Amino acid sequence: MNIVLGISGGIAAYKTPELVRRLRERGADVQIVMTASAEEFVTETALQAVSGRPIRSNLWDKEAEASMSHIELARWADVVLIAPATAEIMARLAGGAAPDLLTTLCLATEAPIAIAPAMNHVMWSNPAVQANRNTLEDRGMVVIGPDSGSQACGESGAGRMSDPNDIAALVCSPGLSGKSDKAAAGALKGKTVVVTAGPTREPIDPVRYITNRSSGKMGYAIAQVASAEGANVILISGPTALNEPRKVEVHHVQTAEEMYAATHANIDDVDIFIAAAAVSDYRPTDAASQKIKKSSETMSIKLVRSKDILASVAARRDGPFTVGFAAETENVRDYALKKLKNKRVDMIIANRVGDDCGFDCDENAVDVYWPDGAQSFPMAGKAELAGRIIGLIAERYESLRGADAQPELSVVSIKGNTKQ
Ligand SMILES: Cc1cc2nc3c(=O)[nH]c(=O)nc-3n(C[C@H](O)[C@H](O)[C@H](O)COP(=O)(O)O)c2cc1C
Repeated sequence: MNIVLGISGGIAAYKTPELVRRLRERGADVQIVMTASAEEFVTETALQAVSGRPIRSNLWDKEAEASMSHIELARWADVVLIAPATAEIMARLAGGAAPDLLTTLCLATEAPIAIAPAMNHVMWSNPAVQANRNTLEDRGMVVIGPDSGSQACGESGAGRMSDPNDIAALVCSPGLSGKSDKAAAGALKGKTVVVTAGPTREPIDPVRYITNRSSGKMGYAIAQVASAEGANVILISGPTALNEPRKVEVHHVQTAEEMYAATHANIDDVDIFIAAAAVSDYRPTDAASQKIKKSSETMSIKLVRSKDILASVAARRDGPFTVGFAAETENVRDYALKKLKNKRVDMIIANRVGDDCGFDCDENAVDVYWPDGAQSFPMAGKAELAGRIIGLIAERYESLRGADAQPELSVVSIKGNTKQ
């Protein structure tokens, strides 16, 4: 895949040598185009060394134009990725302005364009920036992130550039590279997918609840990749600190009962159900209506079993292709196979969880089981892993549910030719 990586002048530009490496590890050829401001944050020398190609930055560079003009560069790209994307470059793109090489080639390319915005959280929430973001998305650009967390300015909020590994995984996924002339051709094109994600909160009284360590990152990544692969995605989410994936219908719930109700309210005519939420198995029998006061030395809370969302969906007549997760601290394989059989699901994704892995972290490794097969996916970023999981689900779905579910090949049109 040929990727033009545009780097604009944000502090996150210092992460771009790593981004180039992650893209190249996935087999991409990377041609870097920097804005003048970007040169303040990262050196051409470092980027040339990691990309293996001379850096382009000046629209008026006669020698570079003679060897590959900005129009040839625009045609060469299978994907244009701008990371980090500043508020300023988003405004130029939204306005159709072309004062520099990067924006000029963005106007001249037919390749899909993805941007990974990065800026101070107040800048990101500014209505002008949000209006530009909406304009760009409405025109078919893919906006990756930004993530929330601590920022270079010392403040905290939404505006951090997404992790280079996650950006590379999304950009190299067939769902993005297969987009040409805004026509998405993905492995799940036309399918409806329901994903549950995150933990649930089971109230003990108005101020306390029982929950678990799920961050929701795996489920959100799966929802985002399924959407990038052309599916209509409904995400039913327990409480998380994550930004809603764009172009995904999100229903927020708190308790296991609410998640059960929201799932069944949305499951008719769904093709694939992916239960990535960590649903509380038990909930307090009766939540106290007032705060429980401190009294005796010990106290007990009576718990009752929650309804099993995964098994109830799998038991539906003509129900969707159903995928469950098994997060276990021991005997992962045995428990996963038992769950596959007892709940009669089509696929189980098993992972070990504990202090050092699984929950609330950015990487994961999983083993996937289905009635007559298994596959392991080694440790990878959750976005990358989500891509592999969705690829496997699309494959299994096709083999079980017939020809009309056949995943489509990604087709990218370049220079009048067709690449498959
Ligand atoms: C130290 C410093 C850090 C900056 N960081 C960012 C940033 O993270 N995001 C952003 O949108 N702009 C940031 N800016 C402002 C941009 O550099 C400025 O808007 C510039 O015109 C962007 O030009 P470009 O989009 O052509 O690269 C920063 C400016 C300075 C001086």
